[in-house]
Amino acid sequence: MVPSFLIFFSFLSLFISTPLAQTSFRPKALVVPITKDVSASTPQYVTQIKQRTPLVPVKLTVDLGGGYLWVNCEKGYVSSTSKPTPCGSAQCSLFGSHGCSGDKICGRSPSNTVTGVSTFGDIHADIVSINSTNGNNPGRVVSVPNFLFICGSNVVQNGLANGVTGMAGLGRTKVSLPSQFASAFSFQRKFAICLSSSTMTNGVLFFGDGPYNLNIDVSKVLVFTPLVTNPVSTAPSGFLGEPSVEYFIGVKSIRVSDKNVPLNTSLLSIDRKNGFGGTKISTVNPYTVLETTIYKAVSEAFVKALGVPRVSPVAPFGTCFATKDIGFSRMGPGVPAIDLVLQNDVVWNIIGANSMVQFNDVICLGFVDAGSGPSAAQVGFVAGGSHPMTSITIGAHQLENNLLQFDLATSRLGFRSLFLEHTNCANFNFTSSA
Ligand SMILES: *[C@@H]1O[C@H](CO)[C@@H](O)[C@H](O)[C@H]1NC(C)=O
Ligand SMILES: *[C@@H]1O[C@H](CO)[C@@H](O)[C@H](O)[C@H]1NC(C)=O
Ligand SMILES: *[C@@H]1O[C@H](CO)[C@@H](O)[C@H](O)[C@H]1NC(C)=O
Repeated sequence: MVPSFLIFFSFLSLFISTPLAQTSFRPKALVVPITKDVSASTPQYVTQIKQRTPLVPVKLTVDLGGGYLWVNCEKGYVSSTSKPTPCGSAQCSLFGSHGCSGDKICGRSPSNTVTGVSTFGDIHADIVSINSTNGNNPGRVVSVPNFLFICGSNVVQNGLANGVTGMAGLGRTKVSLPSQFASAFSFQRKFAICLSSSTMTNGVLFFGDGPYNLNIDVSKVLVFTPLVTNPVSTAPSGFLGEPSVEYFIGVKSIRVSDKNVPLNTSLLSIDRKNGFGGTKISTVNPYTVLETTIYKAVSEAFVKALGVPRVSPVAPFGTCFATKDIGFSRMGPGVPAIDLVLQNDVVWNIIGANSMVQFNDVICLGFVDAGSGPSAAQVGFVAGGSHPMTSITIGAHQLENNLLQFDLATSRLGFRSLFLEHTNCANFNFTSSA
């Protein structure tokens, strides 16, 4: 085991050769809004940064487990400062890239993790501009002159929400947005994401440490569980021998109404040989997807604990009820709590607002049975099969109004349901104080 501070320093030194942030003002954290967008076939969570010379706003679908930033360079990319990354350069090796195009430009596959489409694209560097923050408001705008990204094309862009031309990868790589910002401004390798449940209000993404002021400083009320590594890539275009860059946590058991749900626990751990099993967190999966035996066990326990009759399900869900049979409170539908018991013996409590999805007079348990064939691209099915690579993929609906902080240096996840704090993800004050 190499001490993590050694990895950290060798990582920094790779970056020192590149000209970085030019302003003398050094931000401690950065902030961007995240909007829930329902213009595509499934909800996407969209953020915006400014890029290029002259600067233009670029809308990006947030991909928590994506390895990098990619944007469509085939259509509408105009910039006097965009530079291709030469083969064999330090920047090229940060991408773990093995590919080189005819004109000696380093490349790697940009993947649309919503549709599962990947192509090959050149790696470029260009200026990116973003708001700094003191945790209370957006502050002074800062820029990174040589922010690395992969050039995508129209075919990879297809399927993203209206006006979106790329994806913002926040995953466990040296070139994801959190890593590039942290090294450009030498702040902590932490970021926090908070998805709003409404399409009318903004959620928020912070790069760097707290405070994260959402009426209260949420960084002060987090509980922590280790982030787990998966030694086998789970990406649509990973290379053999590469670890997964997605965020996994250790679910030890699942409880419904405080009762343990009987599960095949070997599905909950990651098979270190083939990378199967375990639990990951995803912002491109709109709903949590469960391996079929886990789905059946949780659904059965939930129906029993709720004690009201089921009605014909609404796809993609399989367990639905009549809305009139359910009571409602500030915490959403009054249904049995579903608890994920995690490593460190902390509990992720999924309340009604996160567990249920309502369609007028029908309300469904908002979990999807992997065996019923949801988007194969998003859960990593083995070709032709119905067995997902990852047993539990915690999807965006279950993340809404929870703040999640990812600490890359100590490899831990901090989380808190904001319902418990009487606030929500839309409560960051986006009025600039600069
Ligand atoms: C900074 O924040 C302000 C206020 O929210 C916003 O209008 C502006 O576009 C942001 N700037 C950048 C570079 O994102
Ligand atoms: C439990 O899951 C593992 C991994 O998929 C499988 O190999 C095993 O047969 C399952 N055990 C039972 C009792 O179903
Ligand atoms: C939001 O921040 C601005 C700038 O600091 C401040 O003037 C305004 O009162 C704040 N709004 C709320 C609702 O706190």
